[in-house]
Amino acid sequence: MELNFKVDEKLCIACKNCVEDCPVKIIGFDGLPFVKDDSACLMCQHCLAVCPTGALSIFGKNPLKSINSQEINIDGNELEKFIKYRKTIRKFKQDELPLETINKLIEVTSYAPSGHNSKKTMLTVTGTKKETDSLINLMMDRFEKYLENNRLPGKYGFLKYVLYQYKKKGIDITFRGAPHIIITSIPEGDNISYVDTIIALSYFEIYAHSLNIGTVWSGIGKYYFDLMPELKDFLQIPPGYKIGYLMGFGFSAVKYYRTAQHDKLQHKILGL
Ligand SMILES: Cc1cc2nc3c(=O)[nH]c(=O)nc-3n(C[C@H](O)[C@H](O)[C@H](O)COP(=O)(O)O)c2cc1C
Repeated sequence: MELNFKVDEKLCIACKNCVEDCPVKIIGFDGLPFVKDDSACLMCQHCLAVCPTGALSIFGKNPLKSINSQEINIDGNELEKFIKYRKTIRKFKQDELPLETINKLIEVTSYAPSGHNSKKTMLTVTGTKKETDSLINLMMDRFEKYLENNRLPGKYGFLKYVLYQYKKKGIDITFRGAPHIIITSIPEGDNISYVDTIIALSYFEIYAHSLNIGTVWSGIGKYYFDLMPELKDFLQIPPGYKIGYLMGFGFSAVKYYRTAQHDKLQHKILGL
């Protein structure tokens, strides 16, 4: 990709922050910063972000359009309370989210870190309840067929109960009745990027909850896709991609009045 690395010489104060902060050390300095090797660029835009005067542009980005550090008033105490308050939602209102909200969720999720800034995660979202229902119907129908033709490995036994609840009682355990589903996918054979898809969904989840939108990770959904990877064709996921993980989301139909009180994870602090 064309770097389009530009420095406004009237604004540059020769602090060399960009030279020092570049993670792949491709910025040199000769009175003004310049790029020594285009091909190694991670496209992380740290050079643009670390410039105190907004003198530096890359990929045609205008630094004035960035959120300025002075606009960010995040308070650790509030964030702590918010993180502790978040809960998995298993009862959803059936209202669809406005398209702008879905787009905003996708936009913010795109700021999740990824290994080597590869940003290979693809996000697929059901934009309507109808689309969500079609996906669940397909999953359940295909699973019924799967059972006719295959022996179900023991660890997937629970999926029969999920199917029964759906077919006989109309209860969706897979996504807990969420009106929307987000599915991550990554190129097949790229096992490193799998973790990126999980981080992306973690960002998605946290941001969603800040908008009062509930989420549920669907390990059950992932099981169905493990057994029947061809389901991804319905999602128009390109050939050569595999599913990362799945999450239901929508407005919560449950209000939590307080946080849970979790014990600390097992941990060791070395050196003390
Ligand atoms: C990878 C992963 C898979 C999960 N799969 C499911 C699932 O299939 N169904 C479900 O109801 N909850 C699922 N959960 C939610 C967990 O059960 C939940 O995070 C846990 O019970 C703690 O509750 P909390 O998120 O409200 O703190 C999953 C969570 C994670 C991280």
